[in-house]
Amino acid sequence: MEKKTILVTGAGGQLGSEIGVLSKRYPQFDFVFVDKEEMPLDQPEKIGPFIAGVRPAWCISCGAYTAVDKAETEKDLAFIINADAAGAIAAACKAAGARLIHISTDYVFPGDSATPLKEDDPTGPINVYGASKLKGEQLAVQNNPETVIIRTAWVYSEFGHNFVKTMIRLMKEKPSLTVIDDQVGSPTYAADLAGVILQIITAARWVPGIYHYSNEGRISWYEFALAIKEIVGSTCPIQPIPTSQYPTPAKRPHYSLLDKSRIKATYGVRVSDWKESLKTCIARLSI
Ligand SMILES: NC(=O)c1ccc[n+]([C@@H]2O[C@H](COP(=O)([O-])OP(=O)(O)OC[C@H]3O[C@@H](n4cnc5c(N)ncnc54)[C@H](OP(=O)(O)O)[C@@H]3O)[C@@H](O)[C@H]2O)c1
Repeated sequence: MEKKTILVTGAGGQLGSEIGVLSKRYPQFDFVFVDKEEMPLDQPEKIGPFIAGVRPAWCISCGAYTAVDKAETEKDLAFIINADAAGAIAAACKAAGARLIHISTDYVFPGDSATPLKEDDPTGPINVYGASKLKGEQLAVQNNPETVIIRTAWVYSEFGHNFVKTMIRLMKEKPSLTVIDDQVGSPTYAADLAGVILQIITAARWVPGIYHYSNEGRISWYEFALAIKEIVGSTCPIQPIPTSQYPTPAKRPHYSLLDKSRIKATYGVRVSDWKESLKTCIARLSI
């Protein structure tokens, strides 16, 4: 029997790379991994013909413009990649009969909630990146109502650039560090999210809609940094600071905690504790 194809965009990014690792455990599928060279998301007109040529059964859309601060001055490009390209991928998947899993973010919310964010809570992005990702969600659903959207937050992995790797480096380089203590959320180990995506693809039923996923727990960036310090055994002093002492071009949401009830109930997803996943990632980094 012919193997079904899973197309993965953003192959060289954090999530795309973790799906690459995981793909070895799914020999029943043909994985096609693409990045800028094969499927440039800043040229959405090329997406339709490319996907029609690959004829995937599923597409995992991890490719995105993720430079949150730079997006404030590259608004057009952020919207082309995160919105127009997402819409084009959805339309092309519909035409090809492919099921689409599109990855989005807690940045579609304003971050002023006091309780874990549910999928139907009112959106209201506070920066360009968040606005471009929200538009991408809307175009994806409009062009392909069968789309599964997974909103995630605070993603890290042994691949690419992220908070965990930056902290480990800075703890070696600097005499002391300051880290924001008034933004809370739960981190997401990209390897765990990759597993959830494959779980959805291999599930008995496909239930379109928006789902929230991160690891379990509630911490600030400061607490995240302390945990990294403890696991790597660093002695670098770390002080908590408010966001006001760390100005950035793009505003960040103060509250990023996602309610995972829907993905647990619909797909039976088991959500790992954030610290256990952090330990796993750091152990893999040290290999
Ligand atoms: N990182 C987070 O904390 C976070 C939080 C919430 C949601 N998300 C979402 O999760 C998804 C995966 O994020 P990630 O952390 O894996 O991102 P990432 O590491 O930044 O990877 C993004 C990928 O997209 C590719 N890409 C960028 N511009 C492109 C273009 N013009 N054409 C084709 N490919 C392009 C990148 O290629 P190059 O490396 O060559 O540029 C890279 O492979 C994204 O949808 C992101 O919005 C991320």
